[in-house]
Amino acid sequence: MSTLDVEWCRAQFPALAQEVNGHPAVFFDGPGGTQVPQSVINAMCDYLARSNANTHGAFTTSRRSDEILAEAHAAMADLLGCDADEIVFGPNMTTLTFALSRAIGRELKAGDEVVVTRLDHDANVAPWRALEERGAVVRSVDINPDDCTLDMDDLRRQVNERTKLVAVGYASNSVGTINEVAEVVRLAHAVGALAFVDAVHYAPHGPIDVRTLECDFLACSPYKFFGPHTGALYGKRKHLTRLLPYKVRPASDEIPDRWETGTQNHEGLAGVRAAVNYIAEIGRRAVPSAANRRAAILAAYDAIRPYERSLVEKLIAGLLEIPGLTFYGIRDPKHFDRRTPTVAIRLANHTPKETATFLGERGIFTWDGNYYAVNLTERLGVESSGGMLRIGLVHYNTYDEVGRLLAALNEFVRLY
Ligand SMILES: Cc1ncc(COP(=O)(O)O)c(C=O)c1O
Repeated sequence: MSTLDVEWCRAQFPALAQEVNGHPAVFFDGPGGTQVPQSVINAMCDYLARSNANTHGAFTTSRRSDEILAEAHAAMADLLGCDADEIVFGPNMTTLTFALSRAIGRELKAGDEVVVTRLDHDANVAPWRALEERGAVVRSVDINPDDCTLDMDDLRRQVNERTKLVAVGYASNSVGTINEVAEVVRLAHAVGALAFVDAVHYAPHGPIDVRTLECDFLACSPYKFFGPHTGALYGKRKHLTRLLPYKVRPASDEIPDRWETGTQNHEGLAGVRAAVNYIAEIGRRAVPSAANRRAAILAAYDAIRPYERSLVEKLIAGLLEIPGLTFYGIRDPKHFDRRTPTVAIRLANHTPKETATFLGERGIFTWDGNYYAVNLTERLGVESSGGMLRIGLVHYNTYDEVGRLLAALNEFVRLY
């Protein structure tokens, strides 16, 4: 097992030095967006200072822009385990997924079916529900409410010979469940359907290999893995080539350009490359012999995973001792390899907003509400009463921070 150099990691993130009301800030809001290392900030500033231009011009800054965008594609390809021309960038995952669903909709006919889940963020539901306008039937897979895992038997029932696409999350941004994605892809392919994976929440926590997964599409958002506010989509080359995206006529018909409609966020993509390089650097520090960037990225996740797991073990053990606390999701440490370090709770007699506000005043940043995983909060019966409180850890968090959160929650239930 390789070890994570947490101190080095923390030193890369200027935002972690902030204070709130005299308390060091604790960033447990990672599932909503992570902080960025200085190298990402530098890459974005440097782009704007030295290379700012539109693409494909016959002059230096434009050529540099072309190079930087090509490097960003190559970096994302190393992160996901594919080729650079199979990476499509866009403003965010939601916009990319709507664009893809519109293109897929052109191939559908009335009565074709699409399968979504109740565990997913609405960005992996609404774009597929939009296909109802074209006569598609959308089916929704249920969860096991006891531990917020996907009901795989229900999924097997919902997928049939009319299914054209199965959309599943790699991991839940709300309760942290990691789904059996490879099995879902297999079931989709068994009936000739496409498999779309939303890896937005999973990407900062675990390695992704789209070739091994064999998924047709996989989307993620660099701002959830230490990069700027952008989105990225992997698509198998044959699909990106065959499907017809809506695009302007003068834009290239090559992939991935035909999918990258309009001018991209160039400084953001310079930052994406730097974010991937930051992850690779974690791996190189753990395993200096890593042969290339992909190997270094895999080494980084080998170091990140056990560390995050030990953090969440401490967190969940402490939470389960708090009187009046309801815990949503996988709580048995035996199954912690099936969850990310993202947990959702409620405290008796307090709305999640009240709890988040109390913590926020002590410099501890958590989220309250549904975080757009609205099918889940509805299914769990908490949508009308403020949703849940989400505590989301990433590798720059510490045991000490977890201890501070547990102490603050214990104080909250004692005082109020
Ligand atoms: C699991 C998951 N999917 C999709 C999204 C939407 O991503 P974006 O903000 O890039 O559109 C989010 C954002 O919170 C998410 O957590």
